[in-house]
Amino acid sequence: MATPMRIFPKKCLKNTVHRLHRKPIISHKGISSNFCTSQNNRCFSSTTEFSECENRVFSGIQPTGIPHIGNYGGAIVNWLKLQNKYKEQMLLSIVDLHSITIPPQKQLRQNILDLTACLLACGIDPNKVILFQQSKVPYHTHLAWVLSCLCSVPKLQRLPQWKEKKAKVKDPSVGLMTYPILQAADIMLYKSTLVPVGEDQTHHIELTRDLSRAFNKEHGLIFPSCQMVPGEIAKIRSLRNPGSKMSKSEANPKSRIELLDSPEDVAEKIKKAVTDFTSEVTYDPDNRPGVSNLIEIHATMTDMCIEDIVEESFLRAEITSSYKSRLSDIINEKLSPIREKALEYQRNEEYLWDVLEVGAKKAMAIAELTMEEVKSCVGMS
Ligand code: AMP
Ligand code: TRP
Repeated sequence: MATPMRIFPKKCLKNTVHRLHRKPIISHKGISSNFCTSQNNRCFSSTTEFSECENRVFSGIQPTGIPHIGNYGGAIVNWLKLQNKYKEQMLLSIVDLHSITIPPQKQLRQNILDLTACLLACGIDPNKVILFQQSKVPYHTHLAWVLSCLCSVPKLQRLPQWKEKKAKVKDPSVGLMTYPILQAADIMLYKSTLVPVGEDQTHHIELTRDLSRAFNKEHGLIFPSCQMVPGEIAKIRSLRNPGSKMSKSEANPKSRIELLDSPEDVAEKIKKAVTDFTSEVTYDPDNRPGVSNLIEIHATMTDMCIEDIVEESFLRAEITSSYKSRLSDIINEKLSPIREKALEYQRNEEYLWDVLEVGAKKAMAIAELTMEEVKSCVGMS
């Protein structure tokens, strides 16, 4: 159980590992090379040398609505950092095929545009990373089929997200159950080794590693292993129900702060955020998940660490209500420029489609090479 935190004499350093429940990068035990194999020998594939694919980064986000501050803290902040390091070795996909696994998806086209506008407004730079729409590269589904033949049904049924998601819909689709295989294909198609995602994706990354290993064993050693790169903040919780994560799919829009929310909406949502009967501002995720979530949101929106936030609030003699009001201002300060830029991008649909088309061409060029190898290994060509 985490110790309740109140005030700390020692300042923590900015830009260091400062989030309290940060998880270590999951490493692939027992394998010293980057390849998914039981042997330790490094191996070169016919089209991509190990050194080339060693540092390829892949992540995806579903166009199911306007991204919220959980997406921002759990994924987007991380992408902004990585894009400067990995540039065109980094791919970001708007995973529209994933977003139709829970119908109805009535505004898919608009959602794709809105998400693209938001990502650009946050600072994702299409001249650095390959930003593209998943369905524009048909090899994702092609590879997913090959991988689905290496994956048992019970393995999918054991995944926590399947259990959670199927409980929420009346007639869960086959697509909903098999979507982690499509996710593995997304990652493997580019021989990606680093996957920056939120904590909720841990089991899907493990499955991806299993499927890479299974393919390499069955057909030939071509896929590297991948690692999850967790965000600074593991999970932002719902404002209405701090027991679950903030999500685009939660019915109550007051449960999340979307990047394009008006300042008034932000203030209202934070004011109504569920906390508890203690008025002090302390960080204790196990016993005080509501107020601890607010502190984590604060950390996501600023460069401050949790210890400093708690200390500052103590020195200001704040209680939860006054802290909430200051936090709303902090969030609005961060989101206002993003909102303005996003609205600007939204007015220029043509530009947004152009960005995605250029990205798809670049992604396609890499995907084609992998699929040629896959087909050759499997015996299809
Ligand atoms: P999604 O909106 O489900 O497509 O998620 C896109 C990215 O945001 C993934 O990397 C998720 O792990 C991350 N993410 C989604 N919700 C949260 C949350 N509440 N807290 C932290 N990260 C999140
Ligand atoms: N499944 C992820 C989610 O729900 C989105 C996703 C799809 C993804 N394909 C991916 C994330 C590949 C990382 C890598 O958030």
